[in-house]
Amino acid sequence: MKTVAETLTAHRSIRQFKPDEIPQTIIDEVLHEAIMGTSSSGNLNSYSLIVTRDPERKRRLYELHSEQEFVLQAPLVITFCADWYRTRQWLELRGARDNFNNFLGYQVAANEAMLISQSVTLGFEARGYGICYMGTTLQAMQEIADYLNLPETCLPITTIVVGVPDEQPERRERLPMRAYIHDETYQEVSPSELEELYAAREESGWQRYMSMPHLRALCEEGGITSLAQMYTSPYKYDPDAYAATSQQVLEALRGRGFLPSTPGLSQTEE
Ligand SMILES: Cc1cc2nc3c(=O)[nH]c(=O)nc-3n(C[C@H](O)[C@H](O)[C@H](O)COP(=O)(O)O)c2cc1C
Repeated sequence: MKTVAETLTAHRSIRQFKPDEIPQTIIDEVLHEAIMGTSSSGNLNSYSLIVTRDPERKRRLYELHSEQEFVLQAPLVITFCADWYRTRQWLELRGARDNFNNFLGYQVAANEAMLISQSVTLGFEARGYGICYMGTTLQAMQEIADYLNLPETCLPITTIVVGVPDEQPERRERLPMRAYIHDETYQEVSPSELEELYAAREESGWQRYMSMPHLRALCEEGGITSLAQMYTSPYKYDPDAYAATSQQVLEALRGRGFLPSTPGLSQTEE
């Protein structure tokens, strides 16, 4: 098994998998280690994991995840949910006051779902398996919640697909460390420092996109000439689509009881 440092160094998101199944004992071991070894706010562990292996169910998840092929290919899909339902049932059982059906509850539980997802990721990666996160979980939050029968105050936050890698991608670039790490207080960067911080990333990222003929043609058509423009183009994180998805996420939070079902009107608006 790899050490933490070896695991992190070897990390690449994997998007092509061999058909090999993951033995149930390995899945059990990784999940047990992750649950036992991940910190939790108040030790309330406000998350749940939905483990999907059934091909038919994976097919439906593939559709909900914008038909990203590797959802079908990977033998294992795990959906990490912010979940206060179980805890709230227990509170009720013991005659305790209800709580966590509010925005702070959502935020805390969403953090927990992300923390446990990365522990699970490290467990699989340390054993030589590959993973890819699925950001599409947020885009299809409501539909995934319905499909997985998630109860009140329980919503999917992220998903990973897991399997035996069938590709060896290059390590993806990051910015120089000084871009992320601030000494004591936040340090603003000047425009020329910003140029420097992004130079290598812009070059390699743009080259990677331009090496994909389909994307290259779309960029040429749409007049997109840089990595930054690409990121907020219709082909990546379109601002209008992002705003629309934000509304859907808010709706999902209302639908599952994390926010009041109708937005509160102020006195003057009434
Ligand atoms: C929350 C989250 C959501 C992601 N969603 C997707 C996704 O929907 N599809 C995909 O191909 N990769 C997805 N990724 C993988 C990122 O593209 C990848 O981590 C990033 O490009 C850096 O590459 P690396 O993980 O190989 O270092 C996601 C990663 C994270 C952390």
